[in-house]
Formats: sequence, structure tokens, C-alpha cells
Amino acid sequence: MQKQGRHNWVVLVPCPFQGHTTPMLQLGYALHSTGFSILVAHTKFNSPNSSNHPDFVFLTMPDNFSNHDGPFEIVDALNANFKAPFKECLAKFMEKQEADDRVSCIISDLVLDFPDDVAKDLNIPSVALSTGNALFALALSYVPRLHAQGLIALQDSSLQDLVPDLHPFRFKDLPLSGFAYMVKVLHNVIGSKRSVSAVVWNTMDLLEHQSLAQLQQQSQCLFFTIDPLHKIVPSGSTSLLEEESSCISWLDNQAPRSVIYVSLGSTTSLDEKALVEMAWGLANSHQPFLWVIRPGSVSGSQWIELLPENFREQVGDRGCIVKWVSQTEVLAHRAVGGFWSHCGWNSTLESICEGVPMICWPHFGDQKVTARYLSTVWGIGLELEHGAERGEIGRAVKRLLVDEEGKEMRRRAIELKEKAEVSVREGGSSFNSFNALVEHIRSF
Ligand code: UDX
Repeated sequence: MQKQGRHNWVVLVPCPFQGHTTPMLQLGYALHSTGFSILVAHTKFNSPNSSNHPDFVFLTMPDNFSNHDGPFEIVDALNANFKAPFKECLAKFMEKQEADDRVSCIISDLVLDFPDDVAKDLNIPSVALSTGNALFALALSYVPRLHAQGLIALQDSSLQDLVPDLHPFRFKDLPLSGFAYMVKVLHNVIGSKRSVSAVVWNTMDLLEHQSLAQLQQQSQCLFFTIDPLHKIVPSGSTSLLEEESSCISWLDNQAPRSVIYVSLGSTTSLDEKALVEMAWGLANSHQPFLWVIRPGSVSGSQWIELLPENFREQVGDRGCIVKWVSQTEVLAHRAVGGFWSHCGWNSTLESICEGVPMICWPHFGDQKVTARYLSTVWGIGLELEHGAERGEIGRAVKRLLVDEEGKEMRRRAIELKEKAEVSVREGGSSFNSFNALVEHIRSF
């Protein structure tokens, strides 16, 4: 590597949520492996566990956020108030460095714009990381047009209709609420509102070639499409919660491809009715299940107090319920045959990388467009059309794990996994794109 100083720092500024921190840290590992020194500037709220990443330096920015604040509120507050604290932290850090050390660039989450302002003030180049997919950004770009044409469906009856010129989405798949915030994100993507030279996409070209090409046409930034990030270089644990390992020995005792793994990511919450329907759906499926219920994710309870009284007794050893796991390890386990997911983008990529087909139960944001693609384009997902309803859940688990239909989906998922493996090998598209990103950063 051509080294232009004792340390060639890349400063990472993640958005403080699991689905955003993980890909940012993974990108850090990949860049570190090429010789860059990694500085992570993060909030105190949801801060990564620095002891898991001894090769990185961490700078903490104080804040008063709590789990009661919504993600959109936190992002807004960060953008409104964090320019000064970040600038101060970074300036102090730079003062302490040797004369021949340099900061090559700041890479910040696409939804954060305050790091750009600091980059401009300190004359440091700036790059964005999109932790979400291109499909969603493209779907968003259609929404203002649909509004202008008076085509936004408002009636429940028309939400099922296909959106003109946006195959295969239905109105109900589009992000019609949280609209102003989402459009801002899109403006960030196409570079008109952020002074970034490049966007790193946490996605795979093989999944999103067309959507990426369409977005690139609208954008002045360079695009680098680099996933599976977690397969480029192994990383330390990026979990913000403690992982329970007991479920791995439980999985070891299950038949190959027999288990449905259930997790709704780090932000989705449930009401009691949905929890009970999920429980009886899993019980009625007669398949073994590994179910992550995040503490605090069921409204009105700390953890699993609201599960039906006789549920655990009925399912016995067939069900394993935990608070948090190493999801990539679980998905790679030979006993796991399917993943019932909220279709968060990281979960989707992790499932594809292990060749595991999915049951899709999207909740908000990008999850609905992802679910639609999983079921209709990539052919590796079954959508729950009626949300959490015990009968439909039981049938979906059986279709995925037992029926020929599920086996077909698994075959397709394994094909995608193999293509993903090729993409990170020498000469593959992610491999090349990552090397091009490294060259881009070195050119600053
Ligand atoms: C959010 C959004 O919901 C998602 O749609 C968006 O794309 C990113 O931000 P989240 O809901 O947490 O993220 O979902 P997801 O993107 O799937 O990320 C969850 C992460 O938590 C995954 O990397 C997964 O491996 C990890 N996880 C989940 C664990 O490590 N352990 C668990 O028990 C469950």
C-alpha cells in the first residue's frame, strides 16, 4: 500500500441504530485491512462496544437520547445539533496526531448531513454510506410524481393496485408516510443536497443492477456497490445487545433445514395481539422454531410476560426463545431452513448470503419494497398478506420448510448465495468495486 503518513485516517460516522452501525463497522474492517486507520465518531446512545474492535479508535459525542425517542426524531436532532460537538471532537483528535498523519476522508451514514458540514469546514473529503437498498430510493423517487399526478391511492381498496410504471410494486408497498423525511434521504442519495463525492451502497449488484443504474443516471456522485460487506473481511461482533449463545447447542440438536428462525430486527415493536398470533402460528406449524424477542419490543411488557400461559408448555423443547443472537451464525447453521423476518435490509442480505429463504412480514420504511422483491422478483420469499394471523403463519411455515414450493425457493436462495460468494472473490463485482473505492479514497 502507498502510505502517505504514519496514519491515514478514515473517520466513520454511523447513525446510532443496529441496522446502520453494523454495515458502517464492517466497512471499517474492510478499509482497515487495506492499511487505513479507523476512527469511529459515535453518540453515547447505542454506542458500539469498543472492546470488540481493538484496532479502531472511538470518539464519543455526548447526548441525551433514550430508547423512548423515535429513530426519525433522533436523526433530526443529530442533524440539527451535532455539527459543533463533532467538529470539536474531530479537531481535538487531529491536534493530537503527528504532523505527517492525515485524515483521508469522512464516511458518514447517508441520513446524516452534519458530518458533511464539518468536512467542508475542515477541508476534508466526504463520502456517504447507504445502509439501505437502491430499490427503496428508486421507489421514493416516484412518490412525488404520483402525488403530482393525483395517483396516490388513499382508499384501502386501491392500495392493492399496481403502481403505473413501477412494476412490481402496489400502492401499499410504497413509503407514503414519513414522506418529507424520506424525500430528503433521496435528495441525499442523488447528491443534490450533500457535498459527497461518492456513495457506498450496502447492496449487491447482482440483486439491484437495474435500480442502481437508474439512480446513477440521476446522480453526480460515484457509486460503489460493496456487499456482502461482512463477507469481504470478517469483523468483530457489531451487536449493540448481548448475544445469547445457548441457542446454538439447541440448534445442534435439530434436524437439518427443519427450523424456522424468527426475528424482527432491532427497531420493530409488537402489540400483545400480534405476539399471541405469532405464538400460536408457530405452535400450529409443528416445526421447531428459534424466536428472538428483543426485550422491550412488546408493548406493555419487559420481555415475554404476555405470551399465552400454556404456550411454552405446549411447544416444549420444540421452541427456543431468546433475547438476541448472533444472527449471521444462526442463519449459517445447518438446522435453519427458513427465516421469518421484517425484511430489514441487513437481515435480507444476511439471509441471502446463507441461502436461506424467507417469510416476509414488513413493517415500515424500506421493508415493504424489499419484501415485494423477495417474493416476486428474487423468488425467495413468501409474503404474509394478513400480517400476524395464526392460520396464515402456520401455513406459511409449512410451505417454506416442508412443501416443494419452499424447496424451490431454497434452490434459488442458494444460487444467489453462490453468486454473492463469487462477487467478493478476486475479479468479482464487489471485489472490484471495493478496490475502486480504496483508490478513490487514496486519491484525495
Ligand atoms: C433498520 C430498518 O428496519 C431496516 O429496514 C433498514 O434497512 C436498516 O435499519 P433493523 O430493523 O434493525 O434496521 O433491521 P436490519 O436491517 O435487518 O438489521 C438488523 C441487524 O440486527 C442485522 O444485522 C442482524 O444480524 C442483527 N441482529 C438481529 C442480531 O445481531 N441479532 C438478533 O437477534 C437480531
